[in-house]
Amino acid sequence: MNTEQLLSAITTQARNEPDSGIVKAAMYGMAIPGVIPMWSGEGNVPTPEIFTRPAIDSLLAGETFYTWQRGIPELREALARYHARNFDRAFSHENFFVTSGGMQAIQSIVQMVAGEGDEIIIPTPAWPNYGGALRILGSRPVEVPMDFRNGRWMLDLDRLFDAITPRTRAISLNSPSNPVGWTATRDELIAVRDECRKRGIWILGDEVYSRFFYGERGETRAPSFLDICDDEEQLLLANTFSKNWAMTGWRVGWLQAPRALGPAIERIIQVNSSGTPAFLQKGCVAALDHGDEFLAQQVAKARSNRDLVVAKLREMPGIRFEVPQGAFYLFFAIDGMKDSAATTMRIIDEAKVGFAPGSTFGPGGEGHLRMCYLRDPAKLTEALDRFGNWLKIKRPS
Ligand SMILES: Cc1ncc(COP(=O)(O)O)c(C=O)c1O
Repeated sequence: MNTEQLLSAITTQARNEPDSGIVKAAMYGMAIPGVIPMWSGEGNVPTPEIFTRPAIDSLLAGETFYTWQRGIPELREALARYHARNFDRAFSHENFFVTSGGMQAIQSIVQMVAGEGDEIIIPTPAWPNYGGALRILGSRPVEVPMDFRNGRWMLDLDRLFDAITPRTRAISLNSPSNPVGWTATRDELIAVRDECRKRGIWILGDEVYSRFFYGERGETRAPSFLDICDDEEQLLLANTFSKNWAMTGWRVGWLQAPRALGPAIERIIQVNSSGTPAFLQKGCVAALDHGDEFLAQQVAKARSNRDLVVAKLREMPGIRFEVPQGAFYLFFAIDGMKDSAATTMRIIDEAKVGFAPGSTFGPGGEGHLRMCYLRDPAKLTEALDRFGNWLKIKRPS
């Protein structure tokens, strides 16, 4: 069979799903020597040894067998302890389910609540994998663009709720947001909770950047659905070890859900991955129990890098952005830029700097570029100098 015949033999969804602009920029730029990468959502330091050592020991001790579908008991207990510490109330291990990355937590949620033709509402700009996960499974992302007005990103809640139809199964809310850094207030979370309760639909919460929050009052996390919802609420929260503890390559995350869903989630995990490797989970226990200091350092680095990037970008003409309240991305508009995908590739080639194109984040994203600033400050400075010089002599596409 030729390529065309083979492609026509796979599902329409698999054939037509667009490439992620982030991955496309990364795959292109990785092959070019000297490019400073800021396309992906990760820092530049490897996982600390205090987390890797227990994983290595576990592997050497022969923990190489199939394991608990919901996650090893030690990790589910450690998740309950970590949450109790950060939310000042009790949590039960029964509400935690270990997944192969935050991405698989999202995928499992979609598989559980949205069938063929069902809709999930997603404010955009949003991380593109949400739309992709839905489309691949035959359900439909209903994108509600946020407004970028007077230099601020705003989520119009009336518009969000107006998008609810009889096919709506969930409202998805990522706060702090990738890519814009917008962070929901407690009142906004309450409004979403109340509307979902009224309509009998799920809240699909994504708080993977919750600890990267730059509040003015010394807060150590962003407002959360866990502050205002019951544990047995129609709430499904996707989370991950990737961001807090520099573990993106481990592919371990978790799903927080009502305990009544335990058997259903176990079945979904069984058919998706049949469980997350036990030795990896041992490293994750160490991250939760001994990772507070490392995480605090990461957040402090993100905050000072954010300030560095903001100061540099403010010196450049034609650049507009909101100072992000959370996460570790800066999403900035360039006056006159019409094609962020083409401009991203040109900046990689001509300035040797790797951003991600705004268009990949859905409606409202075009005209912007995204950079991840959880990087080495000296490299960040160099990247911004290169970009600033590029802007002076070139015009964005
Ligand atoms: C908003 C958001 N949710 C979830 C994830 C999933 O993270 P991972 O699959 O690496 O655990 C990411 C990763 O970039 C993200 O940005």
